[in-house]
Amino acid sequence: MSTSFLASYSRKVFLTLGGGRGVRKAVFGSHFVAVPRRSIIDLSYSTHFMDFKGSSIPSSMKKLVVTKLSQNFRDAVSLQIAPVPTPGDGDLLIRNRFVGINASDINYSAGRYDPSVKPPFDAGFEGIGEIVGLGLSASANFTVGETVAYFGEGAFAEYTVVPAKKVVPVPSAKPQFLTLLVSGATAYIALKRLGDLTKGETVLVTAAAGGTGQFAVQFAKMAGCHVVGTCSSDEKAGFLKTLGCNRPINYKAEDLARVLRKEYPDGVHVVYESVGGGIFDTAVNCLAKKGRLIVIGFISGYQTASGLQPVRAGTLPAKLLQKSASVRGFFLPHYLPDYRDAMGSMLQMCARGELTCEVDLGEMADGGKFAGLESVFRAVDHMYSGKNLGKVVVELVPPVDSKL
Ligand SMILES: NC(=O)c1ccc[n+]([C@@H]2O[C@H](COP(=O)([O-])OP(=O)(O)OC[C@H]3O[C@@H](n4cnc5c(N)ncnc54)[C@H](OP(=O)(O)O)[C@@H]3O)[C@@H](O)[C@H]2O)c1
Repeated sequence: MSTSFLASYSRKVFLTLGGGRGVRKAVFGSHFVAVPRRSIIDLSYSTHFMDFKGSSIPSSMKKLVVTKLSQNFRDAVSLQIAPVPTPGDGDLLIRNRFVGINASDINYSAGRYDPSVKPPFDAGFEGIGEIVGLGLSASANFTVGETVAYFGEGAFAEYTVVPAKKVVPVPSAKPQFLTLLVSGATAYIALKRLGDLTKGETVLVTAAAGGTGQFAVQFAKMAGCHVVGTCSSDEKAGFLKTLGCNRPINYKAEDLARVLRKEYPDGVHVVYESVGGGIFDTAVNCLAKKGRLIVIGFISGYQTASGLQPVRAGTLPAKLLQKSASVRGFFLPHYLPDYRDAMGSMLQMCARGELTCEVDLGEMADGGKFAGLESVFRAVDHMYSGKNLGKVVVELVPPVDSKL
């Protein structure tokens, strides 16, 4: 992700896929018997539009707050108790059921995206859950009990207020839908807008078995391309095979540069590059004539003080010129006009069973399944250990008294 990502990603931008009553899931009838009720703030509509009658909204909640800037997530972020926020006139109050972990959570906690923003500020980019309260204007298109997904500020919380115009209605609160919001949309739009994929071309995807890589593999296959994917274990290589990846390369078992030179002597036409450093250099070297390398991120540098791993930039102009090749950056919030189309297409693919949305809920992680906000820390560690397979997702367990 680029270094300006979070400024617009989580502070200014909530993405929209229309509002509306397209999907209903009127299942909300839970009771938190032991949790104190919050006070009603706006009597003009809150008794009507918020679920106080069912007592399902407690007065306080847990959330994760960046209290100190650091790329070490555990140093930067602390778990706090805060009042459950009240939605404004055009807002929804969402009880988060699942929240997504992104590689850039640590860029955000390091303050790399908007240096003008000082701690404390809320963490977390994306969530999926049920509407439990809403403002009067928002009630024109939504109702309590609907399931929506969103990305925006403050997702690492039990409840988040999100503008109604900026949520994505989804069929149910399954974590698979959450994988589309950032990871899927990035792959879909980046390849569509910057890949210029042509049937029969070769596409290299790095970090191919991760959150966004899994989608890049599938979209490149759908475009009729031959797909090469890098990963760090045989288990991930096996997963990539199931996605249709023609040549998974476990770079811990095989020399990536040698394999690419030997098996793809004419080079690769497109690279979806997320790792940076030496992998970026290798990818540049294997570009075909008129090849396109899309910089999606550079995760290998995020844990360093600068956020970057050095690359051989000095020789880059010559290498690109000699092949009429290009290197282009992609930053999801710069492509908001494409978002509605991307989400609509991906949700249709899901409905038709054409898209695998692999979720890693931590069952195989140290300490077991990611359940509750406290486990976001372990989930970030899990991703940075390189062990995740698919999108890392944390389940927020409802209070024990909830019947939901
Ligand atoms: N530009 C955008 O708008 C945008 C949007 C979303 C994500 N991104 C970028 O996409 C990339 C992937 O993000 P994600 O959230 O989907 O994560 P992810 O791929 O689910 O997880 C990260 C994976 O990166 C690989 N990796 C390679 N070198 C690593 C290293 N030194 N340390 C840790 N992991 C390493 C690991 O898999 P293997 O080693 O097994 O391959 C690891 O599983 C990141 O660079 C992120 O910034 C960009």
